[in-house]
Amino acid sequence: MIVSVKEILEKAKAGGYAVGAFNTTNLETTRAIVEAAKETKSPVIIQVTEKTMEYAGGRMIFNIIKNDVEFYAPEIPVGIHLDHGASFEIVERAVEIGWDSVMYDGSRKEYADNVSMTKKVVDFCHKNGGNITVQGELGSVPYLSEHKLAVVDWDAYMTDPEQAKDFIEKTGIDTLAVAIGNAHGFFTEREVPDWARLEKIRSLIEIPIVLHGASDWEDGKATKAIELGVNCFNVDTNTRLAFVNTLSTIFKGDKDPGLDLRSILGEAREAVKESVKRKMELFGCVGKA
Ligand code: G3H
Ligand code: 13P
Ligand code: ZN
Repeated sequence: MIVSVKEILEKAKAGGYAVGAFNTTNLETTRAIVEAAKETKSPVIIQVTEKTMEYAGGRMIFNIIKNDVEFYAPEIPVGIHLDHGASFEIVERAVEIGWDSVMYDGSRKEYADNVSMTKKVVDFCHKNGGNITVQGELGSVPYLSEHKLAVVDWDAYMTDPEQAKDFIEKTGIDTLAVAIGNAHGFFTEREVPDWARLEKIRSLIEIPIVLHGASDWEDGKATKAIELGVNCFNVDTNTRLAFVNTLSTIFKGDKDPGLDLRSILGEAREAVKESVKRKMELFGCVGKA
């Protein structure tokens, strides 16, 4: 059943576990995430970026997710979220289609601009008792593509805990994406995340904390992040890798893969499902649906 992202995350916070927010781009990935959630009885967030809205059609991908959940997993709480919304216009468009959770990513803006733009999005999403969850980001989570050769100056990306408190007070966001040494993609992340910073942020704010770039946050790291207050991990690269590696194995193998796309893509879908299930176990949300 489609439920509010805020509700999923507040339950996770109260229960001391985290949920996964998995990016989808197509039918196969969506079905894999929905089936993984159903088989493990996990609450889950399925998220879409602006690029995917352009690729698949915003209304189309939204309806694929909604129909998949309603038909295949009506008993599982699933939230549908816009990931990394970069403008007020994309938020408006997503809300018009039916999204009830959005991220406004002003993390690369000057602080005052991030505050004013995020507040504009919150005012729009919360207006007239509107119940649309808004995620903001403070500090910034770097991308692999930005740093192919460079040594990352992690301090330049980190979330300032006191500023996080101020940001929440000024904007009214429902959830906060933090930067504590995490990065998008398989990347040489900061060797040790800044645990003290995460602890400080958690002690100063009440709202759920989201950690982007969690594809390579495995056992010890994810568990410690949950203990220190992370309630949601964003995963994209790991899912895409499972999909692409499976296709690559099929096409490089000795067996003729044939022309039945359902069989070829079906194998990729299975691999994605298994990768998502492993993440759900790691995040501690199995059985929480
Ligand atoms: O954090 C962003 C995601 O990894 C997806 O990026 O859909 O804009 O390529 P994209
Ligand atoms: P990864 O690409 O590292 O999985 O990060 C995903 C993400 O943060 C989506 O918002
Ligand atoms: Zn992200």
